[in-house]
Amino acid sequence: MSDRLRVCITGINGFVGKHFVRHLISDGVLITGTGRKKNPPYSLPDLSYLSCNLLDYDETVRLIRDSNYDYVIHLAAENRVLPPGEQSLSTIKTNVFGTLNLLDALRAHTPTRLKGILIIGSAHEYAISAESGDQPLAEDHPVAPFNLYGWSKHLQTLIAQRYAQLYDLPTMIARTFNLVGPGTDRGLSAEWAKQTVEIEKNVRPPVLRAGNINVARDFLDVRDAVRAYWQLLQAKNVPPGTLVNVCSGRATQLEDILSLFQKHSRTPFRIETDPTKIREKDPPSIRGSNQRLNQLTGWTPSIPLIRSVTDLLEEYRNTL
Ligand SMILES: NC(=O)c1ccc[n+]([C@@H]2O[C@H](COP(=O)([O-])OP(=O)(O)OC[C@H]3O[C@@H](n4cnc5c(N)ncnc54)[C@H](OP(=O)(O)O)[C@@H]3O)[C@@H](O)[C@H]2O)c1
Repeated sequence: MSDRLRVCITGINGFVGKHFVRHLISDGVLITGTGRKKNPPYSLPDLSYLSCNLLDYDETVRLIRDSNYDYVIHLAAENRVLPPGEQSLSTIKTNVFGTLNLLDALRAHTPTRLKGILIIGSAHEYAISAESGDQPLAEDHPVAPFNLYGWSKHLQTLIAQRYAQLYDLPTMIARTFNLVGPGTDRGLSAEWAKQTVEIEKNVRPPVLRAGNINVARDFLDVRDAVRAYWQLLQAKNVPPGTLVNVCSGRATQLEDILSLFQKHSRTPFRIETDPTKIREKDPPSIRGSNQRLNQLTGWTPSIPLIRSVTDLLEEYRNTL
C-alpha cells in the first residue's frame, strides 16, 4: 500500500474546501472529498469523490468504514449568519447533527492510521457585544454566541471536545475569524468585489453601497487559513480536544478595505451608505489572538489584504 498521506475532506465544493484540496494535492496527499451532490463538483488527479449527506448516518458510516485516512478535515457546514427573523433550525441540524454523525462514525469505525480530525469553529462563538473593548480575543475568552450560527458552532465545539475526552478521538477545533480571498460569492468582500466589477462593466452606476464601515474586524486570507489548518493537524504533542483560534490578530477598519477596492477599481466610484445593511449593536472592533496557533505551529499570516482584494477582483472580472 502507498505510504502517501490520505485525507478525507467534507465539503470540498465550499470556499475553504476548494483551496484545501489544491493545497494538499500540491503537497502530494491523496484525498477523498465529499459533498451532497451525486457527481463530483470538479475533478483533479489524486482526488476521489464520494457523495455523502452527513445528516444521513448510514451514508456517513460508508464514508468512514474500511477507510485508511490519516486525517479527517470537516468543513461541511451551513455557514450563514442570518438576521434573527430569518434564522432557521437547519443551521443547527447541519452543523450539530452533521458533526455528531461524522464523529460517531469515526468512533465506531476508527481508521487504523487516524492521527487527527479537524473541526472548524467560529469567532461567533465568543461573547462579543457593542461594549466589548478592542483587546484580542484569546481562546479563554467567555463564550456566549449572539446568533444561531454561533450556537451551532459552539455545540459543535463541545461535541468535538467530548468525543476527544470520552473516546480519545484526536479532534482539534480551529476557531476561525473572517476569511477573505478568491473563491466565494459570500461575505462583505465578495459583495464589494461584485459591485466594483459591475461598476467597471457599466452594469451599475459608479456608486458602491455598503453598511456601517466604521467598524473593524479580523480578516484572514483563506489560503493562510488552509496553511494554518494543515500545520495544526500535523503539529506534534497537541492534546485531543485542543481549541485554537485561526485569525490574523489584527483589526482592520472596513473603511480601509473599501478604500482598497476603490484604489484598485478601473472605474472611480463613490461610497453610499445603505441603511438596510446597517446592523444594530454592531461591536466597534473584533480581533482574535493567534498566539496559541503560533506557539503550536510557528504559523504567521503571510498574505496581505491587498492581495486578497486584488485576487478577488481579478476573479470577478473573469467570471461576471
Ligand atoms: N468562510 C468563512 O469566513 C468562515 C469563517 C469561520 C468559520 N468558517 C467555517 O469553515 C468551514 C468551511 O466554510 P466555507 O466558507 O468553506 O463554507 P461553504 O462555502 O458554505 O461550504 C460548506 C460546504 O458544506 C457542504 N454541506 C452543507 N451541508 C452538508 C451536508 N448536510 N452534508 C454534506 N455536506 C454538506 C456543502 O457542499 P455541497 O453543497 O456540495 O453538499 C458546502 O459546499 C465551515 O465549517 C464554516 O462554518 C468559515
